[in-house]
Amino acid sequence: MAQPQQRPVQGVVRFYNFLSEETSFLDEVLAGLEKPQKALPPKYFYDAQGCSLFEQICELPEYYPTRTELAIMAEHAPAMAKFLGPGCQLIEFGSGSSRKTRLLLQQLQPPLYVPIDIAGDAMRAAAGSLAQAFPWLNINGVCADYTKPLTLPAFVGVPIRRKAVYFPGSTIGNFTPPEAIEFLRLARQTVGAGGALLIGVDLKKDKRVLDAAYDDAAGVTAAFNLNLLARINRELGGDFQLRRFRHRAFYDERKGWIEMHIESLAAQFAHVGGRRFSFSQGETILTEISCKYAVDEFRALAQRAGFAPVQTWTDATGQFSVHAMNAVQ
Ligand SMILES: C[S@@+](CC[C@H](N)C(=O)[O-])C[C@H]1O[C@@H](n2cnc3c(N)ncnc32)[C@H](O)[C@@H]1O
Repeated sequence: MAQPQQRPVQGVVRFYNFLSEETSFLDEVLAGLEKPQKALPPKYFYDAQGCSLFEQICELPEYYPTRTELAIMAEHAPAMAKFLGPGCQLIEFGSGSSRKTRLLLQQLQPPLYVPIDIAGDAMRAAAGSLAQAFPWLNINGVCADYTKPLTLPAFVGVPIRRKAVYFPGSTIGNFTPPEAIEFLRLARQTVGAGGALLIGVDLKKDKRVLDAAYDDAAGVTAAFNLNLLARINRELGGDFQLRRFRHRAFYDERKGWIEMHIESLAAQFAHVGGRRFSFSQGETILTEISCKYAVDEFRALAQRAGFAPVQTWTDATGQFSVHAMNAVQ
């Protein structure tokens, strides 16, 4: 008679680094600063200083998304685990501190957890702390840029019934809607037939609430934004004078997204990688957008990427949503 599957007492923890050479940071900075509307990719916010500032943002009174999503997870993690089902490999994009994931892991007890983050040290630290909290957990930690094609490392020896992408934090909002569809199509390919998606999405709301969430009184979001220039100075030998720039963030109701910019306070030059960039007074660098959706709007978007909505959980005041979806066959 077949023996029932026993969960290993000690999980296996492995790390992989799929990041390409440092040159891509320089190349992308130079390409972004050459655009008519200067722009820098938000993925470069997350060096050690940026990760630490992001964790501080999550605690700010104005920044409702983290505590609201955590509360949704705390209340509904059992239902989410039931939706994903036993034997579900959990693949998390932009796992960061994996704080929300803990609530899910506790309920789901997946055979394998795959955190993927561009911030390799932060991902390793979070995975190490998860391994202590859940000694049975198998972890394949991947340091990678999830906007690039990615083949995940295999993990043999555990039966996997289905794969699910977990993408909390409304990080999907950092893509424009057409980019978000492309990204979700890749996620659909990653989970394959029978796979699933569990995704946190920030909802449309009063402009005043949104403006404050991205421009807090204590100036932590400003420090997070300006750290991007500081990082360019540190790692690429740039000479941005930080005091001659300021943080700007606002909700554009017509576009349905937050825009975060760094504004030049004077006409000036800055140098990076041997190139000179000129700034007029008031000129900005676009550093991040954060799209806000209505629940039905997001469901329709995900359907275009090959996912069928199953259930959506929101908080009582309708600030934030978490969607469970199945991959369409
Ligand atoms: C807004 S934070 C969210 C963190 C966490 N998931 C949460 O819900 O609090 C975004 C996370 O995604 C990671 N990230 C951003 N862009 C990325 C990219 N292109 N590839 C991989 N990770 C990325 C960052 O390092 C950071 O940990």
